[in-house]
Amino acid sequence: MERIEKINALREKLDSVRKADKKIALVPTMGNLHEGHLSLVKQAQSLADYVVVSIFVNPTQFVAGEDFDNYPRTLDADLEYLKRLNVDLVFIPDMGEVYPDDVQLTTEVIVPELDSIYCGEYRPGHFKGVATVVCKLFNIVQPDIAVFGEKDYQQLLVIRSLVKNLNLPINIYGAVTLRETDGLAMSSRNVYLNEAERQKAPFLYKAIMEVAESLKRGESNYENLEKNAISSLKEAGFNPEYFSICDSKTLKLPINQGLVILAAAWLGKARLIDNVAVQSYD
Ligand code: PAF
Repeated sequence: MERIEKINALREKLDSVRKADKKIALVPTMGNLHEGHLSLVKQAQSLADYVVVSIFVNPTQFVAGEDFDNYPRTLDADLEYLKRLNVDLVFIPDMGEVYPDDVQLTTEVIVPELDSIYCGEYRPGHFKGVATVVCKLFNIVQPDIAVFGEKDYQQLLVIRSLVKNLNLPINIYGAVTLRETDGLAMSSRNVYLNEAERQKAPFLYKAIMEVAESLKRGESNYENLEKNAISSLKEAGFNPEYFSICDSKTLKLPINQGLVILAAAWLGKARLIDNVAVQSYD
């Protein structure tokens, strides 16, 4: 596995890969890799000839007061993981490579509407940071395809929208959420859960699945289902931000193109998000 820190060196390497007619996949990450990330890598390997994984903890997607400074950074373990998976190249840029004019002065990418609801409402500016860094990574790597986790469902839609609206020739793939045996979606932020919270955490998925079952049985009072789910999350010790049944493409009502249940809730110091598509939109 090759390890590259500089954009020029990366471009030189990828030019030769392209000349060999190889299809390039990018898996952007912020490190602290877990099995969920590894499944993104495996999916990328099944879709392309050459897989680049980037590791960069992006400051612009953290809102003031969030965990940027304490975000788990586990580079050595991450590199071991990726080596074992036979990733072709790991790109680990520093701040100056990604934000050459400093973070405050960077050109920004805005994906309207989608960026200001749900996670965007509770984390104002978060999706602008995600869209900006992903766009930069796309420009730097110029992959044929890129793979993102479906756990961050709204992020996946934001990225699909930016690719479409900026006319980028990149195919975006979503990878199915990997779960612990008790149902908790794998996430780098699960390390913030203490033991008691870790026991409770799968309740978020359970609450979503219960609503999914009600919908499948024909229940159509979305507002009631959402209200009841929020109440049961509160009773279980969560501090929910939102629990919503919405269209899987617009994340709004009415539902035209398939339906997704989205939820975010705090449990202690961990902000958990999860979702289930009742009918997937692809
Ligand atoms: O999902 C993530 O880990 C990040 O939001 C991403 C896509 C790597 C951008 O920093």
